[in-house]
Amino acid sequence: MKTRTLGNGLRVPAIGYGAMVLSPGTYGEVDDARGEAAIRAALDAGGTHVDTSDAYGPDGHNERLVGRAIKGRRDEVTVATKFGLAVPEGEPSRAQPVGYAFGELRVNAEPRLVRGYAEHSLRNLGIDVIDLYYAHYPDPGVPIEETVGAMAELVRDGLVRHIGLSNLTAAQLRAAHAVHPVAAVQTEWSMWRPIDAELLATARELGVGIVAWSPLGNGFLTGTVTALGEDDFRRNAPRFSAENLAGNNNRYAPVRDLAVSLGITPAQLALAWLLHQDEHVVPIPGSRTPAHIEENLAAADLVLHEDTLARIDDALSRFKVTGATLL
Ligand SMILES: NC(=O)c1ccc[n+]([C@@H]2O[C@H](COP(=O)([O-])OP(=O)(O)OC[C@H]3O[C@@H](n4cnc5c(N)ncnc54)[C@H](OP(=O)(O)O)[C@@H]3O)[C@@H](O)[C@H]2O)c1
Repeated sequence: MKTRTLGNGLRVPAIGYGAMVLSPGTYGEVDDARGEAAIRAALDAGGTHVDTSDAYGPDGHNERLVGRAIKGRRDEVTVATKFGLAVPEGEPSRAQPVGYAFGELRVNAEPRLVRGYAEHSLRNLGIDVIDLYYAHYPDPGVPIEETVGAMAELVRDGLVRHIGLSNLTAAQLRAAHAVHPVAAVQTEWSMWRPIDAELLATARELGVGIVAWSPLGNGFLTGTVTALGEDDFRRNAPRFSAENLAGNNNRYAPVRDLAVSLGITPAQLALAWLLHQDEHVVPIPGSRTPAHIEENLAAADLVLHEDTLARIDDALSRFKVTGATLL
């Protein structure tokens, strides 16, 4: 697997693995045995940068699953997790408006809680240091410099190797980076969800890597999502509603056709396209299915020529999406 450098010298595989889909209530059925097998399939195929959060699944479910799957293979893995949304009972929290499906999330990233969050995640994961630790969302009631100040103490004390920040603005990144070097910002970025141009420019200027979440558009960009099960969380997103999904799939056909003409899958085209947008971007696709995981990770080796990229961008400029995203 090719590697890429995020910020602060952190080297990771060009494509990582997002474990969120392995917790109940996300995108379709899953059980823990299948989940652990999926994570091990990712490691076997070189997807050794594994992304989780203390807020995925009930009571640290996703972190505990990752911990079991990497047992005995710790040294191969870059473990990335996040804090701030699993607010301890009795603690206050602030509303972070995030969009359609969630309406709002509740955040507490006060410095006094940061060490406790990290210790809890370390226990869930069964490890003694977190390789990349993110604030999941900025806390609207706490200057980001204060949250990052507490994260810097975790680095100093050996609980964390690198600091990341997720879902933040360019100005917040700049303020945070002045307190402690930030290795990565995690933000949604895919063929149907452009990155904020100012955030991208600031990350480039500061030498901060970009970890792209939902790089397959929650599965849409693979061309395989035509109907959703009862407990599928994507039902909450207007882009996936019964009335919009079929039309979106039809209008996306020219991009899928491009993949076919290149002899690759739409999922691989979506990931390769992303890798060609910036040399410090690292997508973290999620999947429960070993065959999909291998297919996705193989996209790290694809080289798209300039004229192909121009054809993709032309097709994307004609692709009009109907409906809002999940966040
Ligand atoms: N920082 C944040 O706030 C934030 C928010 C959301 C997500 N994330 C991170 O980003 C990661 C990925 O995001 P995501 O899971 O929302 O979306 P995604 O990677 O865009 O899409 C996942 C979906 O795509 C399907 N899929 C994957 N590969 C496929 C293939 N080759 N062919 C057909 N279908 C395929 C999966 O189904 P199968 O299981 O059937 O393969 C799954 O339903 C998460 O795990 C999480 O770590 C972070």
